[in-house]
Amino acid sequence: MHSSKYTDLALQKCINPECGREFSCARTLFKCPACGDLLDIWYNWDKIPVPDKLNEFAKRWANRNNPLDLSGVWRFRELLNFCQDRYKVTIGEGQTILQQNDTVAEYVDMQPGRLYLQYEGLNPSGSFKDNGMAAAFSHAMMVGAKSCACASTGNTSASVALYAHSCGLKCTVFIGSGRIAFGKLSQGMDYGAQTIQIRGDFDDCMRQVQAVCTKLGLYLLNSLNPFRLEGQKTIMYRIIEGLGWQAPDWIVVPGGNLGNSSAFGKAFYELKELGLIGQIPRLAIINAAGADTLNHLVNSKKLSWNGGRVNQTIIDQYYADLTARSFSPHTCASAIEIARPVNLKKCLRAIDVCNGVVRAVTDEEICDAKAIVGRYGLGCEPASAATIAGLKHLRAEGVIEADERVACVLTGHPLKDPNVTVDYHKQKQGQFSNPPVEAPNDLDEIIKLIE
Ligand code: F0G
Repeated sequence: MHSSKYTDLALQKCINPECGREFSCARTLFKCPACGDLLDIWYNWDKIPVPDKLNEFAKRWANRNNPLDLSGVWRFRELLNFCQDRYKVTIGEGQTILQQNDTVAEYVDMQPGRLYLQYEGLNPSGSFKDNGMAAAFSHAMMVGAKSCACASTGNTSASVALYAHSCGLKCTVFIGSGRIAFGKLSQGMDYGAQTIQIRGDFDDCMRQVQAVCTKLGLYLLNSLNPFRLEGQKTIMYRIIEGLGWQAPDWIVVPGGNLGNSSAFGKAFYELKELGLIGQIPRLAIINAAGADTLNHLVNSKKLSWNGGRVNQTIIDQYYADLTARSFSPHTCASAIEIARPVNLKKCLRAIDVCNGVVRAVTDEEICDAKAIVGRYGLGCEPASAATIAGLKHLRAEGVIEADERVACVLTGHPLKDPNVTVDYHKQKQGQFSNPPVEAPNDLDEIIKLIE
């Protein structure tokens, strides 16, 4: 039985249909204790008073002095109903906007009025991670966690550090040495987290943090944590809200540890089951070419969800090959420099639910796309721009039509990684490089240089 502290509206459930075991939300688990597979949050929808129209959620903006109505996560609370209001954590995340952008549309060869950019850089720590942390830290408060940890390519650590000090939790973050963008590194240190820099890459950090959390009983905040993904579902609710409560034809998202794509698939599956949307959008997941595990497994090895019976041998062989080659991923989009994505199976399920596609794009394509978003949009960090580069591929292939309605998720703020931006512009390496012009300290000479 649940104690009164826990609602009977939600439970944790193993995603493997051959196991499918269920656990109370009172437990802190990041893998199924029976079979080791990933966990999902499942809801007792019959008992949850979900509004029958989505615009009921929008009305909560009118009540902005209630922090739970201001939060772009908790405004949708009936759709992630796993804890009571008194445990809910918010620092004003999810005040993000959907921006229609015709110049970027032209760059990717789409018709005017059809391309939208969902700018998640506006979150308190400057990335989409805050959506997930609002939910996961609420669970941490509910179970009485005192210390927490994560592995990170940078944004998770920044977000965890910020929420941890807001909630009064001790916090340790693991980063790969030399792999983290400076903006992100500076945030974690400034917010007071203990930063442990491991000699290795993100995948090494991910392995170590799981072992540390298990041994020391720390609360794990990577996207293995199923409560985090509940918060990230709300990015999709806000896109639909921005389109007058209509689903777009396509969602385009960068693929790293594959938490977002997994959360988005779950969001649309649930909205459809609840009768709140007519049609599920298609999902395009974009890897960087130097970290393209998902692209390789899906497109070359034909790996699929297969009703939950994922062919583990294909995955094991691929990872054994990476180990044999001492492969370490490399891309300027350091946020998605990941070779062993922990949410791979959930992502395969999302591809199944959303009739999804996967592509990989080069660093050069990412940097040009980033410059276009910078010049004509609100700017973004390199990993986010993989969406625009991927969309350009999918348009050229004819997979996406010029008049379809597409929303790209811009996952992080441009100031997260100024080095990539400055190098691109200064070294004149790209189509849109805009280097500074050297001038003598002389008024006439300076005036001559003004275009
Ligand atoms: N975009 C940005 C800006 C990110 O920071 C990340 C992941 C992704 C995309 C990929 O999202 O993992 O859900 O597929 N960053 C993690 C981190 C890994 O540690 O900050 P995903």
